[in-house]
Amino acid sequence: MKWETSLSRECVRVLTSRSTSTRVDTGIREEVPVHDGSVQLPDGVRRMIEERAEAVGFAALKHAATAMSAAYRESRAVHMPDPARTAAYLVTRMPATFAAAHAVLRELRERLGTRPISSVLDIGAGAGAASLAARECFPEAQTITMVERDPALAAAAHQWLPEAAIMLEDVTRIKTLPPHDLVIAAYSLDEIAEPLAARLWQAARVALVAIEPGTPRGYALILKVREELLEAGASMAAPCPAATPCPLAAPDWCHFAARVERSSIHRRIKDAELGYEDEKFSYVAVAREPVDLPASRIIGRPRQRPGLIVLETCAPGGVRTVRAPRSDREAFRAARKATWGAAWTPRSVTVVCEPR
Ligand SMILES: C[S@@+](CC[C@H](N)C(=O)[O-])C[C@H]1O[C@@H](n2cnc3c(N)ncnc32)[C@H](O)[C@@H]1O
Repeated sequence: MKWETSLSRECVRVLTSRSTSTRVDTGIREEVPVHDGSVQLPDGVRRMIEERAEAVGFAALKHAATAMSAAYRESRAVHMPDPARTAAYLVTRMPATFAAAHAVLRELRERLGTRPISSVLDIGAGAGAASLAARECFPEAQTITMVERDPALAAAAHQWLPEAAIMLEDVTRIKTLPPHDLVIAAYSLDEIAEPLAARLWQAARVALVAIEPGTPRGYALILKVREELLEAGASMAAPCPAATPCPLAAPDWCHFAARVERSSIHRRIKDAELGYEDEKFSYVAVAREPVDLPASRIIGRPRQRPGLIVLETCAPGGVRTVRAPRSDREAFRAARKATWGAAWTPRSVTVVCEPR
């Protein structure tokens, strides 16, 4: 996201009286934290990944990870026929794709309210990162089905999702996808290459989620899928606060970030000093039935200035820069808790919003 520094003149003052809870009671299970810091793969899964990495050995792992990063940068498909490449994917990419899927599915959970999700179809499931996130965000789901053509990744997924069904197939060859409440395509549509949105939507009884890397290319694909789904009659669920055309224009693109803690082996492979990384992703979530959309969404990292917090938000009328000065105590307090990607509904506070 390129930040707009010059603010235009028009000011809108928003004053409402509802509270700023960041937790939602879905009525299905315990309250779900909507915004938090880093998200980690379940402990058991992390241990199994470490064991696989140790079995492969550091040198082979690092070599495979380097080859994979190059392919990722060049938007080439990554095929992983051997244990080293599979382990490299599990160590370096899976924690990040899990965190991104977790952030998206938490948001969808909130948008769907009490509507339960009893089954999940994960397309291009890889090692099951999105299915694991779905299992946490929709614990009521009885059935998880993964479609994955790579046997090594499917075998890894089976290790930590033994209850899930795996269709070890090329998804483009499956005539009719089995209907499930929630259909997820996480980091897979670009690789699958064949337009698939219409078929995925046919299979989605309640909702459909597509996630891609938070790059201009990933965003362009998400935008295309978004348009196709809305034309097919889907209701917007997230991240957009309306089903109107995206107000962003190049060089801006809509993306978000999920913080991921790096394991020590991941740090060593990357020669990284930081103990975390921010996974950038673009996504769209749609639903069969209309859902409550937020007043706006924060589409960039909040910026702290002396005595001021600035939020870039997307609202139904377009992109808005929200300025919360320290003098406006309620606005300032709310903005301090605000996070990139979160819904922003000014409540009990007065904030100044300015269209760009
Ligand atoms: C970048 S990985 C993402 C994996 C996983 N969804 C995640 O978020 O970690 C893309 C996956 O899509 C799978 N894939 C690509 N084309 C496919 C196809 N035609 N049919 C089934 N799987 C496919 C690849 O094998 C790979 O596992």
